[in-house]
Amino acid sequence: MNELIDRFGRRIEYLRLSVTDRCDFRCFYCIPKGFKGFTDVEDRLKLDEFIRLIRVFSELGVSKIRLTGGEPLIHKDIEPLVRGIAALPDVEDFSMSTNASHLAQHARMLKDTGVGRINVSLDSLNPEVFHHITQGDLSKVIDGLMAAKRVDLYPIKINMVVMRDLNLHEVGDMVDFCIENRFTLRFIETMPVGAAGQMARDRYVPLDEVREILEQRFKLEPARMKGAGPAKYFKIVDKRIKIGFITPMSQHFCEDCNRVRLSSEGTLYLCLGQQDKLELKPLIRQGLSDEQLKDEILAAIQRKPEKHEFNTNPDQVVRVMSMTGG
Ligand code: GTP
Ligand code: 5AD
Ligand code: SF4
Repeated sequence: MNELIDRFGRRIEYLRLSVTDRCDFRCFYCIPKGFKGFTDVEDRLKLDEFIRLIRVFSELGVSKIRLTGGEPLIHKDIEPLVRGIAALPDVEDFSMSTNASHLAQHARMLKDTGVGRINVSLDSLNPEVFHHITQGDLSKVIDGLMAAKRVDLYPIKINMVVMRDLNLHEVGDMVDFCIENRFTLRFIETMPVGAAGQMARDRYVPLDEVREILEQRFKLEPARMKGAGPAKYFKIVDKRIKIGFITPMSQHFCEDCNRVRLSSEGTLYLCLGQQDKLELKPLIRQGLSDEQLKDEILAAIQRKPEKHEFNTNPDQVVRVMSMTGG
């Protein structure tokens, strides 16, 4: 079988799809307030094109699929998309990253159709701070999380982007919240991407600081986690929780990268922090066969960059985060 192995020997087995670059929130490190540069809905891949591409990737050894965005649950065809992907025989790990604002309405559907796990962005437990960061409503997110609990959509991971003078003081409260609800918690460093880049830099906190804060209250021990991805995990001694640190800035994890990203317009981005890409939509619409598409994808993977350059070339990524899906 063809496998996607890049020139640094990394096996690409994880495809993340930004099903829409739109979102009902405006997390300032992702889509700044007033941002007008969203892609046109007419330029999106059609449902069958999306599913065909995912099948083609899965036949190239990609067994992990994550739907992300923007906010995947605001896509009008999210249910047929989820059903179509869940039915593909070679997809073993099917997950979604969501802001959870619409999760209460969709949790049962996700559980029944086979989305195996969700990651939820939650940066603050204080409604005012939450609104300041996201322009969104915290109570809808909490409702969504509680609905996910009720239908047993575990494992549920909480993603907390840590920001100076905004939510750094809440890291302990977030640990308590996650212990209470049996959620895994991951802290994330802000990455400078697109129009939000300067804001992300201004609020950046190296996660060593978070670890020091937590170590004043808890004893942390390194922990293993199945399919850990970019996070380094610890368990808190005597508590039933794992916490992960995602440190793209202070200690990047590019040497173990196993992923590429597909945008809603059918652009394959080879790295979150670089511009290298392959436009797949024109190739599909020119009538390429599955085998020809595979050849194009295999060739593109050979161009996957070694690493991001957020630290050394900070203005290089001009697209907003929601276009590539975090
Ligand atoms: P799991 O499959 O559950 O391990 O998920 P994940 O951590 O890969 O995905 P999630 O969508 O929850 O992303 C968590 C954070 O990690 C987000 O801030 C992402 O932007 C960041 N992240 C994920 N993959 C990469 C990557 O390849 N490079 C960089 N720099 N950051 C990444
Ligand atoms: N830096 C770090 N994390 C980000 N996310 C979105 N934009 C950024 C950024 N600039 C996170 C979201 C979500 C995950 C998929 O990506 O908070 O949890
Ligand atoms: Fe929306 Fe997620 Fe971006 Fe926030 S981080 S604006 S919830 S896509």
